[in-house]
Amino acid sequence: MIIAVDGPLASGKGTIARTLASKFGLPYLDTGSLYRATALAVLDAGDDPADSDAAVRAARGLQVDAIDETRIRTAEAGAAASKVAAIPAVREALYQVQRNFAYQPGGAILDGRDIGTVICPDADVKLFVVADAETRARRRWMELKARGDTITFEEMLAQTLERDARDSDRSDAPMQAADDATLLDTTSLSIDAAVAAAIAIVEKRQKA
Ligand code: CDP
Repeated sequence: MIIAVDGPLASGKGTIARTLASKFGLPYLDTGSLYRATALAVLDAGDDPADSDAAVRAARGLQVDAIDETRIRTAEAGAAASKVAAIPAVREALYQVQRNFAYQPGGAILDGRDIGTVICPDADVKLFVVADAETRARRRWMELKARGDTITFEEMLAQTLERDARDSDRSDAPMQAADDATLLDTTSLSIDAAVAAAIAIVEKRQKA
């Protein structure tokens, strides 16, 4: 079984995907980590994330097994990730590693922005997880604060709106729900309720 989980920043897709992975015994890939790690490599080299040559070089040289899980989680890496992700040649460089992961024997679960539309258009289950922007900004702000980040709520809200716009408006693989995706709005759901709703969607699809 292949499960595709897409949605905007801090919609709950990561938590949902991780829980579904353990519930259904599937390997899990957070595809955002590939874009974040590419962006971090660009920043570490002192280059501009919007510089296509620098970003493509970083994407092609990415060592997926050596991603620094702590350093990629900053607000700065997230903002830069959405800039490198808008470059078609970067997406192309990261395409095959995602396809290989998705189509391994036994299936997999991936989360991101374009899993149900571009990476796995024939996924068995597609979820598109949403929540209103203020709720998402507040969730991410609390997470980042707990990690020692000094970003303010207002800055986080501005970044949320900016990333939403950049991810939705780009010409290559824009963030959008696949026609056959099930929409899950987590705005007023607890984590447990959101996860339970996602499990119910997968189980319903399995029976269909
Ligand atoms: O966790 P969060 O929702 O903040 O973002 P992420 O999943 O770590 O992704 C970071 C950025 O990478 C997003 O804003 C997108 O621009 C990009 N991305 C993408 O374009 N396609 C994907 N499949 C995954 C992430």
